[in-house]
Amino acid sequence: MIAVDGIKKSSIRSHYQLGTLFYRLLWGPHIHHGLWNGEESASIAQCQLTDTLADMGEIRAGDKVVDVGCGMGGSSIRLALRRKAEVTGITLSPIQRYWAAASAAFRGARSHTEFIATDAETVQFDRESFDVVWSVECTEHFFDKAGFFHRAFEWLRPGGRLAIAVWFQGDHATDDAQRQIVEEVCTRFVCPSIATRQDYTDWIQSSGFRVTHNVDWTQRVLKTWEICKRRVERSGVRQLARFVDREQVAFLDGFDVLLDAYRTGAMQYGAIVAKKV
Ligand SMILES: C[S@@+](CC[C@H](N)C(=O)[O-])C[C@H]1O[C@@H](n2cnc3c(N)ncnc32)[C@H](O)[C@@H]1O
Repeated sequence: MIAVDGIKKSSIRSHYQLGTLFYRLLWGPHIHHGLWNGEESASIAQCQLTDTLADMGEIRAGDKVVDVGCGMGGSSIRLALRRKAEVTGITLSPIQRYWAAASAAFRGARSHTEFIATDAETVQFDRESFDVVWSVECTEHFFDKAGFFHRAFEWLRPGGRLAIAVWFQGDHATDDAQRQIVEEVCTRFVCPSIATRQDYTDWIQSSGFRVTHNVDWTQRVLKTWEICKRRVERSGVRQLARFVDREQVAFLDGFDVLLDAYRTGAMQYGAIVAKKV
C-alpha cells in the first residue's frame, strides 16, 4: 500500500462538497469510471459498470443494500429502479446527500432509497442488517481500509455479498517512478492511501469473507480519463474551477496523471465481490 501524509477527512468532504458540480457537468450522475466493451457512449459505459458489478454481486429484488460512498446516488437509484433493491446510500458530503435524495425523488425511486450524510468509517449499523455492502470508488478515501471490511462483515446477513470497485496500486508499483505517480494520484484525488489488489484480498478474507470474483478492468475503463480530459479542454469548466478553489483545479489537471498511472501499470482498476458464508 502506498500512503501519503496530509490528507484529512475534512479535505475529502470538501473535495466532494465543491467537486460534485464539476463531476456532474463533466461526467454525469455516476462518479465512477465507465466500463467499455467497444464504442459505447460514456453514459452507457458508466451504467455497464454498475450493472456488471450488480450481476457479480447477485443483487435481487428486495435485497437491502448499503451503498457506501454513494455520491449523487447514481448506483443507489439504478439498483432501486432496475433491481428493485432497497438502498441506503451514505456519503461524507451533505450536498451529495441532498442531491441524491432529490434525484431519487425526481426519478421515482424515493420510497426505495434513503440517503444519509455520515462517515462510513464510524457509522453504526445493526448486525446482519444488509444483504449487500456495495462500494464503488470510495474505499480509496478510507484511513483504515482493513477495519472497514471487518465492519462490513458484521453488517451483512449470512449469504450477504460485498461488492466493491477499486483503484488499486499496481502489482509492481514499487519502483520510485511508479510510486511517485501513485502518490500524486493520492494527493490530487484526496486518497490517504491506495492499496494493491493483494492487500484488499487479504483484508477481505481475514474479515471472514470468501472471494467469488476478483477482476481487472483497467483496459476497459481507461477511456474515462481520455474523455474527461477532452471535455475539460473543450469546456469552460476549468475557468469555473479557478473561481471555486485551487484543489478543484488540481483535480481537473490531474487526469493525465491517472492515464499515466494506468498506462504504466502504476495503478490498476478492478472489482472484488465476496460472500459472507
Ligand atoms: C468517487 S466518489 C464515488 C461515488 C459513487 N460511489 C458513484 O460511483 O457514483 C467517492 C464517494 O465516496 C464518498 N466518501 C469518501 N469517504 C467517505 C467516508 N469516509 N464515508 C462516506 N462516504 C465517503 C464521497 O463522499 C463520494 O460520494
